[in-house]
Amino acid sequence: MAKRGFFLTVEGIDGAGKSTQAQRLAERLRALGHSVIETREPGGAPGAEEIRKLLVEGAPGRWSAETETLLFTAARRDHVERTVEPALAAGSIVICDRYVDSTRAYQGAGAVELRQVVDRLHALAIRLDPDLTLIFDLDAGAGLSRTDARANGAAENRFEQKGAAFQARLRQEFLAIAEAEPERCVVIDAAAAPDAVADKVWEAVAPRLGLTP
Ligand code: TYD
Repeated sequence: MAKRGFFLTVEGIDGAGKSTQAQRLAERLRALGHSVIETREPGGAPGAEEIRKLLVEGAPGRWSAETETLLFTAARRDHVERTVEPALAAGSIVICDRYVDSTRAYQGAGAVELRQVVDRLHALAIRLDPDLTLIFDLDAGAGLSRTDARANGAAENRFEQKGAAFQARLRQEFLAIAEAEPERCVVIDAAAAPDAVADKVWEAVAPRLGLTP
């Protein structure tokens, strides 16, 4: 049987620069001859992209956190079935922009019971954990000013609209996840210059893939 691939997720508050860094990492790995699949959540498969529209567009209060959790988990199930698992089975490196830690932070942060719902749904319906998660850490104010500067986000800003206090809480949630799972998670300081951030990303990823940093 072919060697199973490697599942890497990138996480962080809105505007932390993780998507750009994920792309740079994918290019660097491809240049070394690896097969790399770049994907994202919510989305990453045709059905999941349909669910994405329901989630990221519209008024901030359109769904309760409970309903959001169900929709994100449904989208994730489709994405894992159709895109992630087949790529891992084929031996590829999968780089996924957001995954279950985003659900833990964005939907699960409101209440202990909600966090339990997120974790239990993950255990019941998804059952796939990343081999490595990079958590891009940035001051919440800096993240929001970066998303404001982005031209393409106009229709897709339901979560950015929730404001600076929400982003600050998210940051704490992501850091708490990293602290709770130090084997799986590496925190990357996203305030540094893009080249310096890319170096930190490589230092975290290369040894785990058996490459020299
Ligand atoms: P995304 O397009 O990846 O936004 P960004 O470019 O800021 O990374 O994700 C859309 C929004 O969905 C983002 O604000 C985070 C939110 N989200 C959740 O609330 N829960 C989740 O489980 C996921 C995957 C994303």
